Amino acid sequence: MTPESVKSDPYNGLPSAEPTLPSSAYWDPAEYQRDLEAIWYRDWIMVCREADLSQPLAYRVFTIGSQQVLVLRDEHGELRAFHNTCRHRGSQLCRGSEGRLKARLLTCPYHAWSYSLRGDLVRVPSKSLPEGFDKADYPLYPVALSLWRGFVFVNLSPEPAGTAAHALDRDSADLTNWPLEGLVTGHVFTKVMACNWKIFWENFNECLHCPGVHKHLSALVPIYGRGLMARHDDPQWALHADNDEPQYAGGLRAGAQTWSHDGRALRHTFNGLSERERTAGQSYAMNLPSMFVVGHVDYVRTVRLVPLGPELTELTAEWLFLPEALEEPGADLDNIVAFGTTVLEEDAAVCEINQRGLHARPHRAGVLMPEEYDLHRFHEWVRAAHRRAAASP
Ligand code: FES
Ligand SMILES: [Fe+2]
Repeated sequence: MTPESVKSDPYNGLPSAEPTLPSSAYWDPAEYQRDLEAIWYRDWIMVCREADLSQPLAYRVFTIGSQQVLVLRDEHGELRAFHNTCRHRGSQLCRGSEGRLKARLLTCPYHAWSYSLRGDLVRVPSKSLPEGFDKADYPLYPVALSLWRGFVFVNLSPEPAGTAAHALDRDSADLTNWPLEGLVTGHVFTKVMACNWKIFWENFNECLHCPGVHKHLSALVPIYGRGLMARHDDPQWALHADNDEPQYAGGLRAGAQTWSHDGRALRHTFNGLSERERTAGQSYAMNLPSMFVVGHVDYVRTVRLVPLGPELTELTAEWLFLPEALEEPGADLDNIVAFGTTVLEEDAAVCEINQRGLHARPHRAGVLMPEEYDLHRFHEWVRAAHRRAAASP
């Protein structure tokens, strides 16, 4: 491929026919395990909002592949994360999935070893302690934690690279002007999709499917209706280089302000946005493999993924609003939420049909079209992660 630095034509399309990942990457249990080891157990994974654990002693338990991570806020207000496992004989420590701890101690439900909320083993109820046993040698297994803009990330690697902020995709929009930290969750949508987690990201990374799959969205974002994501996805872009109509320039259809059924925004919009950010219609930030955030003029939507198995992925979408927007009497959240839910349902449905077809024995791999350049970049990201993991198992 032409290196970016010497490429004079800003056309985004893939110049050559690139293969997809092999079909087995989407259903083979061994390949799934390889993804967990190379990606999900090494990268920063978004688990929740800081606000979900706002009170001291609040906790939640998250599953990432076969691993359970306990995230809690200690009595001093510090967020901490541990493997949800007791150091004695490895029992699960917290049986609930979320709530408030009853004490400043975590007590194992099996033989009642107790840990401080810092993870130190403080109590062992045996009548006597054996020689050579020191409680200090048996703290809970810590898990690295990093905060980004009000979101909590964990990393299961013993030596995590960088922070959650470093893991943002290089093409992510700068969401500095969106007050992410102070937003309040107005709606949550969860769906378990019968597809491999990578299928979701592949679909996210192209809009070739938009005209056929997203009727309403394609009407709202006219360039999507052309199967494109941006002006330079069109090989003929130069013919329309000066045309600022949304089907060429991107952005929302005339008269629309946000992603909602009628295109109307809430009364309270984010007042720190630039003119460009207001007219863009949507601004995406992505943190692979677990989340993306999209900023609109009046709300933000996040999507979080959790792999549940080779062919099973849980998606959780949250709609985040300004507190005053949620308090506004008569604010029509459904105008917004129902629109986004339809888009997610449409995407989930095509992800599932994609998954089902991948089992055909002669289909060893697919091939990418020029518009699927970002999907190719995603594949390269997966391949690089596997190479890294193979080099340092
Ligand atoms: S396994 Fe936890 S106290 Fe025994
Ligand atoms: Fe889609």
